[in-house]
Amino acid sequence: MKETLLLLLKEADGFLSGAEIGRQLGISRTAVWKYIRALRQDGYQVEAVTNKGYHLVQGQDILTAESVHAASRAAVMGKQLVVLDTVDSTNNVLRQLAEEGAEEGTTVIALKQEAGRGRRGRTWVSEKGAGLFLSVLFRPSILPMETSALTLMCGLSVAKTLRQMGFDAWIKWPNDVKIGEKKVCGILTEMSAEMERVHYVIAGIGVNVNHRQFPEELQDIATSLYLETGQTWEKAVLAGHLLGWIETYYQAYLSGGFTAIQEEYSKLCETIGQELMVLSKTPFFAKGVEVCADGALLVEKDDGTREKMVSGEVSIRRKVLGADNGKNSVGSSQL
Ligand code: BTN
Repeated sequence: MKETLLLLLKEADGFLSGAEIGRQLGISRTAVWKYIRALRQDGYQVEAVTNKGYHLVQGQDILTAESVHAASRAAVMGKQLVVLDTVDSTNNVLRQLAEEGAEEGTTVIALKQEAGRGRRGRTWVSEKGAGLFLSVLFRPSILPMETSALTLMCGLSVAKTLRQMGFDAWIKWPNDVKIGEKKVCGILTEMSAEMERVHYVIAGIGVNVNHRQFPEELQDIATSLYLETGQTWEKAVLAGHLLGWIETYYQAYLSGGFTAIQEEYSKLCETIGQELMVLSKTPFFAKGVEVCADGALLVEKDDGTREKMVSGEVSIRRKVLGADNGKNSVGSSQL
């Protein structure tokens, strides 16, 4: 009811009287007041003016299942949508739901994560308010080795979403999304599978939305939508658009494999044509040549030999002056 009231206030053109709200929601004026108070306790600014009623101060970042649905064109992705206040990790919550039989497209969003996880055992800074923390469930009939393409598909979906919102977003293979030189989104994909069969895949997506600043060690490498524009962005709108793009590209992937999105992905992949440092067991420099039909990255070393990098097995670094073989490049969240 609280969420419905929030949406009603959000969509209202000006003030709504308590009686009108009560009529539309089928509740008493006392109940209206109770829910208004609950919204204020949640941090929403609701003005109350005698003889006029209630008004939600515009431009607030309201993240509820309703507000996400209102911004989403997806039919399957996010149809089952759980928005929670505080969790350990949205991936963990969704894994539990998946084990209980949740359907494909089920999505978990949290306002805050107390144990947000990044790749390679890192933590993902997940304080309340600033970031979008979202996990989506897929149940594709594919082999475990084919799932890396799904993480690329999610990276493409995030890049497309941010472009739709006016950002010059690029994908750093396999699935980091950057604006300029700085990372704005990370994706952690986890799966449950047997040798020959995937049970489910969870794609956990973290987008830096309204961060005003980052810890010093991240300032040169991480950015947020706020830092890029000086304005706050609505996470619900971002999440809604994102679910729409995930649906589009997932459908394409299901019908044609990664090749169906290879061209779109490649167009937005900044790694192609770049000088790179490949952080395999023995790091080496190479140039990104192309993203192959299976989602792997083909690189060419200085001696002309080519190597295929498999998604998730390596991390790629842009070549830097005084390169340090990658020693300084890892170790922080939001990286
Ligand atoms: C990375 O290291 O780049 C991946 C970061 C992934 C963070 C997201 S936030 C939502 C989901 N829940 C988590 O605990 N991690 C992912």
